[in-house]
Amino acid sequence: MNKDLISINDLSVKEIEGVFNLTSKIKRNKSAFANKLKGKSVALIFQKPSNRTRVSFEVGIWQLGGNCIYLGPGEISLGVRESVEDVAKTLSRYLDAIVARTYKHSDVLDLAKYSKIPVINGLSDLTHPCQGLADLFTIKEKLGKLKGVKLAYIGDGNNVCHSLMYGSMKLGVNLKIATPKGYEPNKKITRESGIPLGNISNDPSEAVGSADVIYTDVWASMGEESEAEQRKNIFKDFQINTRLAAKAKKNYLFMHCLPAHRGEEVSAEILDSKHSIVFDQAENRLHVQKAILLSLLAI
Ligand code: CP
Ligand code: NVA
Repeated sequence: MNKDLISINDLSVKEIEGVFNLTSKIKRNKSAFANKLKGKSVALIFQKPSNRTRVSFEVGIWQLGGNCIYLGPGEISLGVRESVEDVAKTLSRYLDAIVARTYKHSDVLDLAKYSKIPVINGLSDLTHPCQGLADLFTIKEKLGKLKGVKLAYIGDGNNVCHSLMYGSMKLGVNLKIATPKGYEPNKKITRESGIPLGNISNDPSEAVGSADVIYTDVWASMGEESEAEQRKNIFKDFQINTRLAAKAKKNYLFMHCLPAHRGEEVSAEILDSKHSIVFDQAENRLHVQKAILLSLLAI
């Protein structure tokens, strides 16, 4: 594996399969991995709020016997109190790995560039690789396969969408994306991921048609709060509700990275239905991230 995990695009298919195999082992037998990070320290540098990413990394590091240091927005003031380069060089002298949640993707890239230790992207404005890996692991766990699975991503062409694009194309998932006009995924990522251009549209009904899995995320991501009201109107036809979900396969699964807004991107009825696997998805963040840490630290 590369030194860092910045994007799923950094991983080969073999490396992803290796992470998934290790994840299954860790999930089955937690205690067998209890001392793997003994004597090691990992810092979480977070510029944005978090529930799942922060808690699953902290608990995961603790379960592996390691030490975790949370550095929230007020602590390091990445790039404000000190340059990203100096933070990276300093922390490399103390730590064994860094997990970073930033506004600018370039800040994660710079942390990785200037640090001697692995840097894991815990969400930037461009990608959310830990989420994408946990999501694909969850689909495999539920459906027993990934190849040919029809995954419909409906909503904003954002960081979560981008990671699903990279991962789906590598693993043979048939990903269809529908966004409002002007909210399509990043063009460079579209090109790099190799997703067929015909799989991206502005038609949620078409994208959800015969889907095995329906996926959505918030309409306004962290950092886009000022656009939230305006987006509610622009995205209103992209809500996952019973009318739209009726176009999917009968036993479709519903996924959401969370946090969710009932009544906006998804109706309460769908989010709380038997189709919804959002908390299995959230749980798998823990297991997958433990596997990522061990893989990057070559343990
Ligand atoms: N899905 C996810 O990353 O959640 P948090 O923002 O709560 O970490
Ligand atoms: N797209 C969302 C994901 C949150 C986990 C955001 O960036 O806020």
